[in-house]
Amino acid sequence: MKMNRRKFLAATALTPALLFLSRGAVASKRYRQELPIPELYEGKYRNGIKQFRLNAEYGEVEFFNGYKTETLGYNGNYLGPTLRVRKGDRVAIEVNNHLAEDTTVHWHGMILPARMDGGPHQNIIPRGQWTSEFKIIQSAATLFYHSHAHGQTGQQVYRGLAGLLLIDDEKSEQVGLPKDYGIDDIPLVIQDRDFDQGGQFSYVGFMPERMIGKHGKTLLVNGAYSPILKAKRNKLRLRLVNASNARFYNLGFEDGRSFKVVASEGGFLENPVVLKRLEMGPGERYEILVDLSDRKTVMLKSYGNVGNASHGPMGMMGMDKDMDMDVLLIDAESAEKTTSKSITTLAKFPDWMAIKTGNVSQQFDLQMGMMGMMRGMMNRMGKSGGMMSINDKSFDIDHINFSVRKNQFEVWKIGNSSPMVHPFHIHNTQFKVLSRNGNPANPFERGFKDTVIVSQNEIVEVMVPTGPYSDPQNPYMYHCHILEHEDAGMMGQFVVKS
Ligand code: C2O
Ligand code: CU
Ligand code: CU
Repeated sequence: MKMNRRKFLAATALTPALLFLSRGAVASKRYRQELPIPELYEGKYRNGIKQFRLNAEYGEVEFFNGYKTETLGYNGNYLGPTLRVRKGDRVAIEVNNHLAEDTTVHWHGMILPARMDGGPHQNIIPRGQWTSEFKIIQSAATLFYHSHAHGQTGQQVYRGLAGLLLIDDEKSEQVGLPKDYGIDDIPLVIQDRDFDQGGQFSYVGFMPERMIGKHGKTLLVNGAYSPILKAKRNKLRLRLVNASNARFYNLGFEDGRSFKVVASEGGFLENPVVLKRLEMGPGERYEILVDLSDRKTVMLKSYGNVGNASHGPMGMMGMDKDMDMDVLLIDAESAEKTTSKSITTLAKFPDWMAIKTGNVSQQFDLQMGMMGMMRGMMNRMGKSGGMMSINDKSFDIDHINFSVRKNQFEVWKIGNSSPMVHPFHIHNTQFKVLSRNGNPANPFERGFKDTVIVSQNEIVEVMVPTGPYSDPQNPYMYHCHILEHEDAGMMGQFVVKS
């Protein structure tokens, strides 16, 4: 049902004040929506395979009272269900494209055969269907899935094509962390959006926005604006997913309480790391434990001065001043008391030092050339005309950048000569951060990761397991997870040979 356009516009005369500037007093008095929890989807077990079906489809969501926003979602209006699988499972996920444009679904963080990866090569045409079948061979972790359509990833994810994928294993079932989904194990999909006067999503409007990546002024968590979580238990595990196109977050609690980081993208850390603030780039995931035994109400916030919002080109242009943003209000007043022993060892890692890697095998420089930027502003980003590049090359879907051999550990060196911070992501692997500018990685990023922040003039060395699958034809991607950068060519592809 479409609302009469004129009536709609008339009704939105007060929009800006209502929607976006109502922080502070007004905002704190307004009704808060309870945090929605994406529905759990565990598939149907048939012939030894867990079968799933995802339909990419159009939807409509009332993010704000009286305003219907046109969205995209999987099996629903916005985002998708949380797929839950177990290590050792064989899964088959059928994807149907009910959109009028091409799409793909990529399983971010998954180690799997290249043709099942859902990157730009596994394109699904409108009304088309694609089935991804693979075995879960990796440890328990919080993964996610999202559109990876060639040149269209940014806008499709922005409109809603993303969801969570949780892997369980023996360890995660026995380690003693909160694990009741939606009760004390809470996923938080964090995204920023802008809305226009009519209540519709507004994507990159002007060129600098494309260059810097889309930053919205309104935060959504699991698709809800400024929600409240009424905690049911006094110890919560929060699965933090930065599913934003470009915004970095610096998360922390307003009352200054600390929390424990227990997992990164690829699974558990060796030991919990106590922090008060945690920085997350687009594509990164962390799991944290927060103690609410004091039964207080506390705001999870993102503090400014992080990523590209307050410094780098965006800060220089004064586009998006250092902003603190409310993420989630947690009310622990009626949280049930639970007893849990404190866990000191979560996982046992290989002896990294003993692994034979040889020399640095790949070296990358993330680039935003000034000339390239100018060109990018004029052209529509095409096959190779993007403004972003890695080692002087913009993404070319017909060109394989390099190959590696399977079952190896490689050292990749990621440099950044651009004026921005980039989250660098590699498909089909969970890697180990070896160093930052020669110094040890931050304690909370010493576990397995698939996305790593690379700041200006920084060199990050990672050790990449190349995995057991080989395929000389079908490549995997590596790219900046600022989706506008990816779409504009800060991406490459490699094949794994036997
Ligand atoms: Cu989450 Cu290649 O992407
Ligand atoms: Cu990925
Ligand atoms: Cu980037």
